[in-house]
Amino acid sequence: MKRVDDFRLKLGTQELVPIMIGGMGVDISTTALSLVAARLGGIGHISDAMVPTVSDRRYNTKYVKDKLKLYKYNVANSDKAVVQFDLGLLAEATEHHVRHSMEAKRGPGMIFINCMEKLTMNAPKETLRVRMRSALDAGIDGITLAAGLHLGSFGLLEDHPRFRDAKLGIIVSSLRALQLFVKKSARTNRLPDYVVVEGPLAGGHLGFGMDWAQYDLATIVAEIQAWLVAEKLDIPLIPAGGIFTGSDATRFLENGAGAVQLATRFTVTHECGLPDDVKQEYFKASESDIEVNGISPTGYPMRMLKNSPAIGDGIRPNCEAYGYLLDATGNCQYIQAYNREVAAHPGEKKVKVWDKTCLCTQMRNFELWTCGQYTYRLKDTSRVDASGSYQLLSAEHVFQDYQFSTDDKIALPEAT
Ligand SMILES: Cc1cc2nc3c(=O)[nH]c(=O)nc-3n(C[C@H](O)[C@H](O)[C@H](O)COP(=O)(O)O)c2cc1C
Repeated sequence: MKRVDDFRLKLGTQELVPIMIGGMGVDISTTALSLVAARLGGIGHISDAMVPTVSDRRYNTKYVKDKLKLYKYNVANSDKAVVQFDLGLLAEATEHHVRHSMEAKRGPGMIFINCMEKLTMNAPKETLRVRMRSALDAGIDGITLAAGLHLGSFGLLEDHPRFRDAKLGIIVSSLRALQLFVKKSARTNRLPDYVVVEGPLAGGHLGFGMDWAQYDLATIVAEIQAWLVAEKLDIPLIPAGGIFTGSDATRFLENGAGAVQLATRFTVTHECGLPDDVKQEYFKASESDIEVNGISPTGYPMRMLKNSPAIGDGIRPNCEAYGYLLDATGNCQYIQAYNREVAAHPGEKKVKVWDKTCLCTQMRNFELWTCGQYTYRLKDTSRVDASGSYQLLSAEHVFQDYQFSTDDKIALPEAT
């Protein structure tokens, strides 16, 4: 049987190991994780979710504190429409994060940034434009358009000097979404350089409804592949979601995929941004500990561990500090849910909110443990000690296990 290393992903003139580590916000797919993928000849992702916050934590800036100071007068107000991002500061934070990652990059691989359209930031078009363009200004190798249809995103970039040289791709979960994107972007005379096809077993937000279990990644990939052939479009497809072993990956590559995108197995590596105690929660999870629910205020279903502290937590919306999910009218579904519970429980110090979560604060604090469906198999990828604690892995170990393994085998780390 072949293995992943028998294949290469061609992107322009470059040949890469066909392994892409998916974007995981907020700073779960860290710069350190992306650097390993690049060093080993694959593709890593950083994420542009809440970059000012990430910059404060990593590089000692004060974006959040300053924003909160500016809007402090509004904290007790249930209407958050006044809270805006300063576009200059947003550009600065993005450039900071991207430049830091790119300067540290070594080796033949690439680093892309995951840009989610659903981070609407009270000015969807303006903020997305700034985020993508400043990532290009700072030298990112490519942008993966995520969490949204991105019908106008190429248009926001077309007059950028790097529009045709940077790699630009999109994540879709259906042929229809890809057809729409290609049609709406045709005016810019540019096709995506790659298409990530994300199936229903992925982590993060899902591009499916609550009927996600009725869909199957291989079927969607085959459908999209057939359409590309019929349209004579030569675009590498990159399946994602539930690809757990090197052999799972090889099967997709043998069927014509250009590469695979992976995430869950990297959540328990040293380089992953989750706190170590949360990584243990991922290791220990069983299948019944994982659910897809509707608590994300984006409106997309999201997969997570059922014991995530975020679930039911009724914290006061923190939009003056964050506000990444405020829509074009300054609203967020969590604000509505929170206000409803406060009104229903007058005088109570702390309310419970079950139907929505304050995604910004909870993701920022690693209290919402989003995960792929096969998180319950992570325990088979490492060693456990007598106290029940699992050995964290190196990202290099996991990457190379995907690259070289055969026969559905998973290499355990050397015992420490
Ligand atoms: C913890 C976690 C966070 C994620 N966050 C994002 C994200 O911010 N943006 C995105 O496009 N995809 C996100 N994803 C999806 C992954 O990038 C990837 O496509 C998918 O999880 C691959 O499937 P696998 O986890 O089964 O390998 C996330 C996945 C996980 C596990």
